Amino acid sequence: MRIVKTVSFVITSIIVLSCSNKIIQSKVSFSKDNVLDRRVDSVLKLMTLDEKIGQLNQYNGFWEITGPTPKEGQAAKKYEDLKNGLVGSMLNVKGVIDVRALQKIAVEETRLGIPLIFGFDVIHGYKTISPIPLAEAASWDLVEIKKSAAIAAEEAASVGLNWTFAPMVDIARDARWGRVMEGSGEDPYLGSQIAVARIQGFQGEDLTAKNTILACAKHFAGYAFAESGRDYNTVDVGESTLQNIVFPPFKASVDAGVRTFMNSFNELNGIPATGNKYLQRQILKGDWNFDGFVVSDWGSINEMIAHGYAKDNKQAAEIAINAGSDMDMESSAYVAHLAELVKEGKVEESLIDDAARRILKVKFELGLFDNPYLYCDENYEKATVGKKAFHDGVLEMAKKSIVLLKNEKQLLPLKKSGQKVVLIGALANDKTSPLGSWRIAADDETAVSVLEGMKEYKNNQLTYVKGANVTEGRTEFVWETKINTTDKSGFQEAIKAAKGADVVVMVLGEHGLQSGEGRSRTDLGLPGVQQELLEQVYKVNPNIVLVLNNGRPLAIPWADENIPSIVEAWHLGTQSGNAIAQVLYGDYNPSGKLPMTFPRNVGQVPIYYNYKNTGRPVMNEPESVFWSHYSDEKNTPLYPFGYGLSYTQFEYSNLELNQKSFSAEGSIEVTVNVKNTGKYTGKEVVQLYIRDIFASVTRPVKELKGFEMIVLQPNETKKVHFTINKKTIEFYTANSIWEAEEGDFKLFVGGSSVKTMDADFQYVK
Ligand code: BGC
Repeated sequence: MRIVKTVSFVITSIIVLSCSNKIIQSKVSFSKDNVLDRRVDSVLKLMTLDEKIGQLNQYNGFWEITGPTPKEGQAAKKYEDLKNGLVGSMLNVKGVIDVRALQKIAVEETRLGIPLIFGFDVIHGYKTISPIPLAEAASWDLVEIKKSAAIAAEEAASVGLNWTFAPMVDIARDARWGRVMEGSGEDPYLGSQIAVARIQGFQGEDLTAKNTILACAKHFAGYAFAESGRDYNTVDVGESTLQNIVFPPFKASVDAGVRTFMNSFNELNGIPATGNKYLQRQILKGDWNFDGFVVSDWGSINEMIAHGYAKDNKQAAEIAINAGSDMDMESSAYVAHLAELVKEGKVEESLIDDAARRILKVKFELGLFDNPYLYCDENYEKATVGKKAFHDGVLEMAKKSIVLLKNEKQLLPLKKSGQKVVLIGALANDKTSPLGSWRIAADDETAVSVLEGMKEYKNNQLTYVKGANVTEGRTEFVWETKINTTDKSGFQEAIKAAKGADVVVMVLGEHGLQSGEGRSRTDLGLPGVQQELLEQVYKVNPNIVLVLNNGRPLAIPWADENIPSIVEAWHLGTQSGNAIAQVLYGDYNPSGKLPMTFPRNVGQVPIYYNYKNTGRPVMNEPESVFWSHYSDEKNTPLYPFGYGLSYTQFEYSNLELNQKSFSAEGSIEVTVNVKNTGKYTGKEVVQLYIRDIFASVTRPVKELKGFEMIVLQPNETKKVHFTINKKTIEFYTANSIWEAEEGDFKLFVGGSSVKTMDADFQYVK
C-alpha cells in the first residue's frame, strides 16, 4: 500500500493515526468517542477546503469499473473527481471486485487516501429477498423483522457494501402512494418499534463487524403525505400531525443510534425537505441531537430548482448545506459550487467542517480508516451470498407476514390429500414478481412461485391454468408497468378447469413492480382483467381461495362479499411460494395483522384507524344528512388496521385494571385473558389502544400503545399484561412540547383496532 499518512497532536498524549494500518498509540486512555473525535479532527486538519467538500459528494456508479478507464463525458469527469479526492461515497456499486477497484483509487491515488463509503438500496434483502417491508410489518414480530434486516446486512456487507438506504420510516395513510410497500404502514407506534428493530438488525452491536452495515432513516420528512398519493407531490402537514404522527419513528431511529438520515424529494409546507432548516437543523440536529450525517435524496438538491425554491444549481447548494444536508447524492451541486460559496461568504466554512466531520466519523466507526478493504473479501462473499441460512430466514419471515383476511366455509387449511386443486393466475406461476419492487440486486426468476410451492404437496391433484396476465409488455424497475392487459383469451381454459375442482386457488393482484417508487395508482382494485376473471370463475365454482399479491392495500369489496377465503400474501420475496403453500396447507397457521387499513373504495383514501372524531361523528338519526359521511359509501374500512384471522379462534375476557387512575409517578396494570377456542395451535397479537377523551389538541379516536404476541394451544388461556404510565399518554400538546395532560381516557384491548373490550381510566397530575 502506497501511503501511510500520519498526524500527531499533543494533548496529554500522542495519537498516531494511519489510514491503512491500525495504529493508535496513546499514553492515556480516552473514552471511545473522545478518541474517535480526535482522530476525525486529526484528519480534518490535513484537508483542504476542496477535499472536505469532496467528502460531501456522492456519485452513482459510473462506468464498468474493472473495464477501460473512461476518457470523456460524465463518467470521465466523475473518475477525475474520484482521483482528486472529490468523492466521499458511491452508490450502486456492488460486488467485492468493483468495490475494491474504486476503493483502491480513493485510497491509493488521492492525496489523503480517505476511503469511500459504498451505499445501496438494500430495502428488503440484497440477493436473498425478504418480504417487502409493509408485509414484514404485518407480522408485528419485532424479533423476526430484526433477523430479516440482519440477514440483509450480512449478505450486503459480504459484497463490499457499508450502508443501506433503509429503513424507510415514513408513516403512510394513502394507499395510492406506491411507496407504502417500503414502510411499516400507518401507525407511528408500530412504525417506531419496527424502525428500531430494523436499525438494530442492520447496524448490529458493532459497525466494524463484517456482517453489519449503516442504516439510514428516510425520508425526512413528510414524504408519504404527498397530495393525492402521487409520488413526489406537494406536502402540506400541520404541526400536530408532523409531531404526533410523522416524527415519532424518526425520533425513535435517532434514539436507536441510526447513523444516517436521508432527506426527501417533497416540499413540506412550502419548503423542500432538502433545503429545510427547521427539519434538519432545528429538529434533527438540534432538538434530537443527531450526530450522524444526512444524505440528500437522489438529485434532490438540484430538484429545488424545479420546486421553484432555488434559481440555479449553485443557489440550491447554498440552501441545502445551510439547511443541514451533509451529503449531496447525485446533484453535483456541492462539488461544483461550495468552494466558491465559501469564498463569497454565503456559506460558513464551519458548516462544511461540520458536515465533513460527521461523514469522516462514520467512516471511522465502520473501521474503514483502519482497513479500507475490510469488506472486500471475495472468499467471504462467495461463502455468504445466498447462504442456506438466509433462505431459511426469509422463509420464516414470509410465513409470518401473511394475513388471513377471510375464511368462511373453512376452505382453509386445504386438505392434504384426495383433492382436485386448480391453481389460476399469472402471478401463481411468476418467479420474478414476488421479489417485489426494491430488489435491484436479485436476479429475475429467482423466487419460488406459488405453483412450485404447492407442488411440494404431492397427494393432491394439482392443475395450473394461467387465465390472464396482469400487465402487458415489460415489467422492469425503471419502466412503467401501467399497461394492464385486456387480453381475456385464457379465460375459457381457466373456467373449464375450475368446473371440476374441489378447491380453486386464485393468485391475483399487483405485479411486484406495480408498487414502489413512482408507482402511484388512482384505482385500488385488481389490475387489468383479473376482477372479471375472478367473477367468471366464481360463477362455475364458488369454492375459491383468493391469494392476493400486492404492495399496498387494495379495495376488493366484491371479493370480500363473495369469495369464501382470502389470504393477503403481499410480495413475499425469494421464498414466497413455499411460504404461501405452507400457509394454505396449514403447516403454518397465519398470524399476521394488517399494518394499514384496507378501504372499500379508493374514494375513502386516506383512510386510517387513528382518525379524529370531527364535531359530527356518527349521528343517532342515520337518515339525517348533516354528519361526517359519504352518501354512497360507508365510513368504515373493508379491513381495519390490526385485523387478521387465524385458523383457530381467540376469545377475550376479564379485562381488568388494578386501579382506575394514576398520577405522574404511578401506573395502571392492565390484564386480559385470551383463550384459544378453536382446534389449532395459533399465535395472536394482543393489541392495546387508548383514547384521550378531551385534550388541548384534539386526539385520535384510538391510538395503538402496546402489543403482545402469544402462542396458545387449543383450549389454553393466557393472561396478558400491559402497563399504562405517563409515557403512554404523552403527546405533542398545545404547549408545543411532549407531555401528559390530566383527564379522562378510554382503553381498548383486542385482536384488532375494532374488535375490542374497553375500560375507562384517569390521569391525575
Ligand atoms: C429514492 C431513495 C433511494 C435513492 C437511491 C431515490 O429515488 O427516493 O429512497 O434511496 O433513490 O437509490
